[in-house]
Amino acid sequence: MPRLVPEPYRIKVVEPFRLTTRAEREAILTAAGYNIFFVKSEEVYIDLLTDSGTSAMSDAQWAGMMVGDEAYACCRNYYNLKGTISDIFGFRYFVPTHQGRAAEKVLFAAMLKPGDYVPSNTHFDTTHANIEAVGGHAVDLPIAETLVPTSRHPFKGNMDVERLRRFIADVGAQRIPLAMLTITNNSSGGQPVSLANVRAVKEVLAQYGIPLFIDACRYAENAYFIKQREAGYADKTTLEIAREMFSYADGCTMSAKKDGLVNIGGFLAMNDERLYQRASQLLVLWEGFITYGGLAGRDLEAMARGLWEALDEKYLQHRIGQVHYLAERLLEQDVPIVEPPGGHAVYLDARRFLPHIPQAQLPGQALVAHLYLEGGIRAVEIGSVMFAHKDKTTGEWKYPELELVRLAIPRRVYTQTHLDYVADVIIELYRKREQVRGMRYTYEPPFLRHFTARFEFV
Ligand SMILES: Cc1ncc(COP(=O)(O)O)c(C=O)c1O
Repeated sequence: MPRLVPEPYRIKVVEPFRLTTRAEREAILTAAGYNIFFVKSEEVYIDLLTDSGTSAMSDAQWAGMMVGDEAYACCRNYYNLKGTISDIFGFRYFVPTHQGRAAEKVLFAAMLKPGDYVPSNTHFDTTHANIEAVGGHAVDLPIAETLVPTSRHPFKGNMDVERLRRFIADVGAQRIPLAMLTITNNSSGGQPVSLANVRAVKEVLAQYGIPLFIDACRYAENAYFIKQREAGYADKTTLEIAREMFSYADGCTMSAKKDGLVNIGGFLAMNDERLYQRASQLLVLWEGFITYGGLAGRDLEAMARGLWEALDEKYLQHRIGQVHYLAERLLEQDVPIVEPPGGHAVYLDARRFLPHIPQAQLPGQALVAHLYLEGGIRAVEIGSVMFAHKDKTTGEWKYPELELVRLAIPRRVYTQTHLDYVADVIIELYRKREQVRGMRYTYEPPFLRHFTARFEFV
């Protein structure tokens, strides 16, 4: 039996919730067109849809909200946040934003022109979309192991440095105004990026004068993986590791809804004063004055405090321990998952879980439906519903390589008992997997299908 270190916090406020009956869940899911996005949160027992904006804040963060200074300009909480960003990330300038994608929108509008390229280990989908929205090209250059679900590479989130070198030679440095590293690499399963990789990427970029920006939303989890896995870092603190990671970067985007341990908030930080001035102009247009950026003073304070709390090693040990505990319990019973588990989620491999269901019958979506029906658990499909598309010339369906179901663990929200419950439901479902049928669309929207599609069992 795997072991989990005890929670490094105790519970002061509780939010009661109820497990519905199987009959209720059948009626609920049918009414929702078998799309889990349409199920009311109150009708979900364990909500593993996302780790973004779902954290439980600490007593210190709630206390911080009471010292929110709601002045329009130059509130005290802005300066507290500025101090935190300077201490942890080391950047000279920053603008607050209401969440991560707003920071991306400002960054790319300020730095890109149509036809430019932005290489990354793997862009998150909002990053990708914000680059394309201003006419740029988002390019993913992950190492080969990233796409192999059973590869146990310790830093599966790394960028392929040789591919980066070739890419710059192919398109020319003048068409690459910046490059990015997403840490941890969410789209590859929350896999970490090593410091050696950050350093190597920076070295290549520096030869061409290309700035490096880090998508920092899971910076603390990435720092903890480096401490655990990278030679020479076991005795460093996560703060020292974070400082070194960002010392190689020229700026970062941040969705504080992850390792900022808040329900809303983000920022864009940089060293270049001219970029800061351009970003400030756009911020005033889209988000608000440069000292609040679409947030209340109290939100800035909760973020300033959360960014420090996320680096607490006892917290990180438990946090990443929870994800690994759930993964170990599933692996013990041979349930197929992406290995090794990353920092914020366990990914079920739906093609191996339900080998009798062809991709055309949406095995990931069938698994999501059954997790809800069996146990009131909400997960999200990251497979054919999200990514399959028709080939423009042949009209044939192209299915993605990976057909995954993500179980994202909110920070400080669920206990070991909840995780045991989730594991038990999945293991039981795996035992009777032959009974699961495939699905088909009853309504298929033209884009961003997963949010609004409706389904039925075949
Ligand atoms: C790696 C990564 N970058 C950016 C974002 C966008 O952040 P937000 O949802 O706060 O806009 C996310 C959100 O999930 C993310 O995981």
